[in-house]
Amino acid sequence: MNTKFTSDIKKNYDITVLGVYKNNKFSQPTTKFDGERNGIISTSIKNSKFDGDIGKSLFIYSEKLLLIGLGEQKNLDNLALQKIGGKIGSLLKSEKLENAFVMLDNFSDEKLFNLAYGANLKTYEFNKYKSEAKEHKLTLNFYSENPQKSEGDFLKTQSIIDGVITTRNLANEPSNILTTTEFVKQTKKLSKLGVKIEVIDETELKKIGANLILAVGSGSSHPPYIVVMKYTGNKKSKNKIALIGKGLCFDSGGISLKPSKGMDEMKSDMTGAATVVGIMESLAKQKAKVNAVGIIGIAENMPDGNSYKPGDIIKSLSGKTVEVLDTDAEGRLVLADCITYTVQKIKPNLMIDFATLTGAIIVALGDETTGLFTNNEKLARQLTEAGQKTGEEVWQLPMGKKYKKMIESDIADMKNLGTPLRSAGSITAAEFLDNFTDGTSWAHLDIAGTAWTTGNDIAPKGVTGVGVNLINEFIETNIK
Ligand code: BES
Ligand code: MN
Ligand code: ZN
Repeated sequence: MNTKFTSDIKKNYDITVLGVYKNNKFSQPTTKFDGERNGIISTSIKNSKFDGDIGKSLFIYSEKLLLIGLGEQKNLDNLALQKIGGKIGSLLKSEKLENAFVMLDNFSDEKLFNLAYGANLKTYEFNKYKSEAKEHKLTLNFYSENPQKSEGDFLKTQSIIDGVITTRNLANEPSNILTTTEFVKQTKKLSKLGVKIEVIDETELKKIGANLILAVGSGSSHPPYIVVMKYTGNKKSKNKIALIGKGLCFDSGGISLKPSKGMDEMKSDMTGAATVVGIMESLAKQKAKVNAVGIIGIAENMPDGNSYKPGDIIKSLSGKTVEVLDTDAEGRLVLADCITYTVQKIKPNLMIDFATLTGAIIVALGDETTGLFTNNEKLARQLTEAGQKTGEEVWQLPMGKKYKKMIESDIADMKNLGTPLRSAGSITAAEFLDNFTDGTSWAHLDIAGTAWTTGNDIAPKGVTGVGVNLINEFIETNIK
């Protein structure tokens, strides 16, 4: 989708989109249009069930007009605007309209940008494998008194949109196309934006002793990698934030094989890593004044004669030993070596990891809220606030000694599974990761539920790209 800003009301557009508040209270531009057209808007509304409620709409085809319900003016916050933007995008798409003029009210740029954000993300399509699919080329021309300024200021929102789309594009790819090696290749596109890419391949992983990620990848014909992506936007500062991602191109469960029902969804078990790539892209594109390092662990978990097995004891990059009780609890193993690498080599002020880590978080929070675990209460507050502001809500779950006890092993430093009944399954996974944080401020976001949607206000069915906007907001507000 294309987003433009214009002060040209008179141009010949496919359609003009106008706003109406609850109980059919017209916005100023709608009143003006109605006056110029002998009250046809008022008449059309009278003959319909349209009432200006949010989510309602009315096409007046004879006048090439679309009315959009804005609800109550006092409730029209950024999230409501994103939802309205999404609605406009879907409506125009289903009517195959391409060039639309949007003037809901005399909105500020901030409001327009939220409308555009929702429209861009809701009209996203992943149809490259449909032989007959034709791309719908939609352009929204938003009315602005100073289009040049609006266009310039929009670049930041556009960078976030681009980041979300990159995350979705990567995570929607099937694992026969997006193999581990192909994923690495895709991350190199970021170098055009000034991001430095460093690839730690299997040979190097062996040399440094990253045996956990090696074990997870051992049954696959596609080798594991750690990719480090460095963006330096504030050379004057030594501070840096690390963003870590779980990148399982496919998670079959390995020798602890998953049931076949729903196993296809595990092609998106690299969404955490894709989220990190999306965030790095958005920061670099907007030239954010921050130093950020992305560290992603890429592997494929498969059953094979070379696979790691339940009962194996593996020495991690940190030196701590892990007893493997379930090869399907592989994400925490990959992340553990990535976290150690980050703590030892990157030495960030704080690190945040993203992972489709546990089915248990879906049981606990469903697909609307991301699970948050942290060793730093200030970070918890900041991420919670960023979540409320962006609509990408997070909810903190408890951690502590009593949970840590649940992953104690009889014969190694820890085991990769809690109780056989999987009680507190998401928390014990987080406790496992905490064993590798070594005093660095850390937050873990379990996005197993929120990474995917059957369709919501601003996303079609598929990968959501959750986390990209959240971390952009978090960085803008909290990182100097
Ligand atoms: N990738 C899965 C978690 C997952 C499940 C993500 C459903 C998205 C949707 C993870 O690797 C996994 O298999 N977790 C196990 C852990 C268990 C073996 C302790 C789980 O959640 O069942
Ligand atoms: Mn698994
Ligand atoms: Zn997994």
